[in-house]
Amino acid sequence: MAKAGPLPRTDPEVDPVPNHRFSLVSGEEPCCNLSKKAKICLVVLCVLLVTIIVVVVGVLLGRPKPKHKEWDGKGTTPYFPEIILGRCYAFTEIRQLELRHKDCQKIRKAFMDAFISKDPCSSTKQDYQPLIELTNETVPCGKTLFWSKSSELAHQYTRVRQDLFTLEDTLLGYIADGLRWCGDAGSSEINYGSCPERGDQCINNTMSVFWDTASKRFAENACGAVQVVLNGSISDPFDKNSTFGRVEIHNLRSEEVPTLQAWVMHDIGDPSASCSNPSIDDLKSILSNRNIKFTCQENYRPLRLLQCVQYPEDSSCSIQ
Ligand SMILES: *[C@@H]1O[C@H](CO)[C@@H](O)[C@H](O)[C@H]1NC(C)=O
Ligand SMILES: *[C@@H]1O[C@H](CO)[C@@H](O)[C@H](O)[C@H]1NC(C)=O
Ligand SMILES: *[C@@H]1O[C@H](CO)[C@@H](O)[C@H](O)[C@H]1NC(C)=O
Ligand SMILES: *[C@@H]1O[C@H](CO)[C@@H](O)[C@H](O)[C@H]1NC(C)=O
Repeated sequence: MAKAGPLPRTDPEVDPVPNHRFSLVSGEEPCCNLSKKAKICLVVLCVLLVTIIVVVVGVLLGRPKPKHKEWDGKGTTPYFPEIILGRCYAFTEIRQLELRHKDCQKIRKAFMDAFISKDPCSSTKQDYQPLIELTNETVPCGKTLFWSKSSELAHQYTRVRQDLFTLEDTLLGYIADGLRWCGDAGSSEINYGSCPERGDQCINNTMSVFWDTASKRFAENACGAVQVVLNGSISDPFDKNSTFGRVEIHNLRSEEVPTLQAWVMHDIGDPSASCSNPSIDDLKSILSNRNIKFTCQENYRPLRLLQCVQYPEDSSCSIQ
């Protein structure tokens, strides 16, 4: 059985508490007559100061990359600035030499300035105004082609009919076609991780505002008879919520545009009728209120022939 003996630590000669304090104050630092309280305060202050300095320096040096907000949609297209610049040069130096004088570096910068360091859900027309001004161009009268839910066919058509222009055949539409982009209010970086969609309760997102603004300008500048390719194989060939139905037809200038010709195109093998579709009546009445004459034709032959390239055996494709 171990007996409780004297513990080595309690040796009074080693740790004479009252003497120890006395020798500290009056023996080791005779110059400074500070009380123990003051000394403790000083030490605590020093420790605090050092801690603050270490933390501040650490935060400044090793700051983690700012985390962007996360959205439902896919992020900015990789190499976005490079694509804008490259497409601008391709368009102005190869495709449309009349626009050779355009400053592509300026255009790229104006595009970036429109959304960098900004909340991607509070985009405005004004954000894109400098870009709109830098990319002005004239589409000849009678050569404007709109489309709705028929992007592929409409663009196949303008590829063959080089005198006709959709928005994507103009410089502004061409550089942005198919791309995604957004920034972040709290950072000067591009958000490659995610971007908001309309569905994120974000009506005024960077891309929607851009396309609405570009489409508005495109329609305002149209002159002569204009054409639209509509999709006859969906329930509403004319959709009031589409860019065409929401923006473009309301921005045609009736003094300049006497007529709108609609080509309602069915997919090959789909026999449904379309100029009689109720949604086409909506289009007709909007235009009649705006004093623009309306014509409608189903399966317009030049467009039909393009569709037939993929289905040469179909009965609707036999050439009489
Ligand atoms: C674009 O705008 C500038 C300045 O307003 C003007 O000088 C130029 O002629 C315009 N270019 C086209 C193609 O409309
Ligand atoms: C009509 O819309 C459908 C569904 O989006 C699409 O597959 C088809 O290619 C479109 N047709 C035309 C003529 O654009
Ligand atoms: C979107 O922008 C329009 C036009 O600037 C504005 O009237 C509207 O209030 C904005 N909507 C939202 C939800 O921010
Ligand atoms: C148009 O869009 C609004 C809001 O996005 C929606 O509430 C409405 O039902 C749509 N209208 C049509 C005709 O699709």
